[in-house]
Amino acid sequence: MVTMDFLDAFCTQFELNNAILAQCQPFSCGDADLDDFFLNDADNYSRQMLGKSYCYRLDADPSVIVCAFTLANASVDVWHLPNSRKKKLAELIPHEKHLTSYPAYLACRLGVSIFFRGKGIGTNLMNNIKLWVMKPDTKGGCRFVSVDAYNNERTRRYYENNGFKYLFSTEQQEKDYLGMPPEKELKTRLMYYDLMLLSDKM
Ligand SMILES: CC(C)(COP(=O)(O)OP(=O)(O)OC[C@H]1O[C@@H](n2cnc3c(N)ncnc32)[C@H](O)[C@@H]1OP(=O)(O)O)[C@@H](O)C(=O)NCCC(=O)NCCS
Repeated sequence: MVTMDFLDAFCTQFELNNAILAQCQPFSCGDADLDDFFLNDADNYSRQMLGKSYCYRLDADPSVIVCAFTLANASVDVWHLPNSRKKKLAELIPHEKHLTSYPAYLACRLGVSIFFRGKGIGTNLMNNIKLWVMKPDTKGGCRFVSVDAYNNERTRRYYENNGFKYLFSTEQQEKDYLGMPPEKELKTRLMYYDLMLLSDKM
């Protein structure tokens, strides 16, 4: 069994770029699109300043990537939400500070190696991401971590267990927002985590 602090105790975080990838064994989180992104696109994505990718490598064998993720600056758009959802988010923010959108970090890609999954490392990683974006040296305000979560049970449960809420309470609301026909499958769900929940405890 792996403890909650596995990444801090046994791994070191690096930027994920082609130089690092060249030193590592192929990384697979079991999702072909994500694996392909980390292997072939992450470096260029970062150079185009669209999102920065990071990985944790095992200290005992740095050729092993335990998990990888990509962060981008983003926002949670409240203006276009249905009234009931607008109200839900508005409850989190003092009235005089209400905005039409709130600053966020988007965890746009995230995966744990298939050899390390189901041991609490994904949770460990998400805790680290939340704390990292809240650090005093972060240059801009950031109230939320947002994700476009794969719409499958395991991934949804992972984000739910890590305190993420659905931006839209139903898939139909989300399809309407995205202008999707009802019969089309919703491949991802927009979710957010309110960093104030952690800030209150710090
Ligand atoms: C989703 C994903 C990131 C989760 O990573 P993970 O390391 O498996 O996550 P965790 O281990 O923290 O949690 C997953 C399960 O392990 C269990 N677990 C947590 N700590 C544990 C421990 N110490 N020992 C054993 N099991 C543990 C959790 O209870 C959870 O169980 P559940 O799914 O039955 O509720 C990973 O499965 C993955 O990379 N999937 C493919 C890519 C993907 O979907 N990425 C998200 C894109 S939006």
